[in-house]
Amino acid sequence: MAAEGSGDRMGRRIPFTVPLILAAALVGFVSRCEGGVTSSFVRKTEKTIDMPIDSDVFRVPPGYNAPQQVHITQGNHDGSAMIISWVTMDEPGSSKVLYGTEKHKLDSSAEGRYTRYKFYNYTSGYIHHCNIRKLKHDTTYYYAIGIGHTVRMFWFTTPPRVGPDVPYTFGLIGDLGQSFDSNVTLTHYESNPKAQAVLFVGDLSYADNYPNHDNVRWDTWGRFVERSTAYQPWIWTTGNHELDFAPEIGETEPFKPFRHRYHVPYKASGSTSPFWYSIKRGPAYIIVLASYQAYGKYTPQYKWLEEELPKVNRSETPWLIVLVHSPWYNSYNYHYMEGETMRVMFESWLVKNKVDVVFAGHVHAYERSHRISNIAYNIVNGECQPVPDESAPVYITIGDGGNLEGLATNMTEPQPSYSAFREASFGHAIFDIKNRTHAYYEWHRNQDGNAVAADSMWFQNRCWKSADKNECSV
Ligand SMILES: [Fe+2]
Repeated sequence: MAAEGSGDRMGRRIPFTVPLILAAALVGFVSRCEGGVTSSFVRKTEKTIDMPIDSDVFRVPPGYNAPQQVHITQGNHDGSAMIISWVTMDEPGSSKVLYGTEKHKLDSSAEGRYTRYKFYNYTSGYIHHCNIRKLKHDTTYYYAIGIGHTVRMFWFTTPPRVGPDVPYTFGLIGDLGQSFDSNVTLTHYESNPKAQAVLFVGDLSYADNYPNHDNVRWDTWGRFVERSTAYQPWIWTTGNHELDFAPEIGETEPFKPFRHRYHVPYKASGSTSPFWYSIKRGPAYIIVLASYQAYGKYTPQYKWLEEELPKVNRSETPWLIVLVHSPWYNSYNYHYMEGETMRVMFESWLVKNKVDVVFAGHVHAYERSHRISNIAYNIVNGECQPVPDESAPVYITIGDGGNLEGLATNMTEPQPSYSAFREASFGHAIFDIKNRTHAYYEWHRNQDGNAVAADSMWFQNRCWKSADKNECSV
């Protein structure tokens, strides 16, 4: 287990205490490189393949025009609204949501809208989105959809009112896809009884790996994840597999399937695009960035982030979390340096604003960095190495959901000094915020039971080193 505050003379934090060393010894040989730990946990090497189209997880719910692919996400900035989305296949049907706090008394209703799209030779079902607002915090709501035909009911719990000391537990999943391994990852995540919402770091269905980006695989993915997405919000980040840019078959509108299927509350944070936005949820302020939208100087995303970061009130939301698809620090050979241009643009802002942690995906493996920054370099001064920086975020790559492209097993050697722990296994993570000063983070590889953490770390908030002083407000 790594803990904030302990470190060696290089300013590096010591990544393990005795119990975890013992645990590591049980699962395999752990080699120490100069920078940190490269785990050589031995996996069974099996090909990662997608679940066949007739798999039970893709089953269409019974009944005429039954709602399917149900998913929810936060509907406004403070968590008192929820966007409910689903697809009907036979006819549009109703876009209405009935909801209430008692299962047998759904005394509120909201009217949504539906949309559909064509992609090459595919025509989507009727994709409904309904934002239900003015919800009470920390309350379980039941909701029914499919009114008039086959009604299906689900439930969710709203987050507590935004505030510094409300505990909240996020799950972290990336690059999920729909392979047998994806199913193991999702099941493993669901086995955690505390996880309340998923921060998803991009690359959802991998439909674009099929001929003509077979959008039927967007539908199967929606049905596969419904068992989680219908009951707790997934906060969406876009990855390269959402681009669906295919001029060779006449599809030139990037992100067309994603934009129709997955709505996010971007306007609530003053964003002009669904690809970058922010939400507050309990004690956390979450900023979602877009690796595949322009972020150079003067661009809309650049301008938005420049104005957004100073708005974060760490006395209200102590935990500042950034989600982005392409990692800024990555010591695997896969996608090496792809996040570099965005790092160059934005890293100094994140350090200045004391972001606690940046979660990324894209690389199909796991990695956690030390707190480092690399912003001094000006092309002539030679200061081009990352250096320990207590104001910098921890960078975590969690692109290990288990999609059909398989694991990224090839690493740069030796392990760079900024890399604290890395392992090429599928898994997910949990970020468990306890209060304004501390959060406990765990990474769970798929081969382990849910009580086992293959990597873990106590996070100490960057603004609240102690409970009585917000150092960012000075
Ligand atoms: Fe990716």
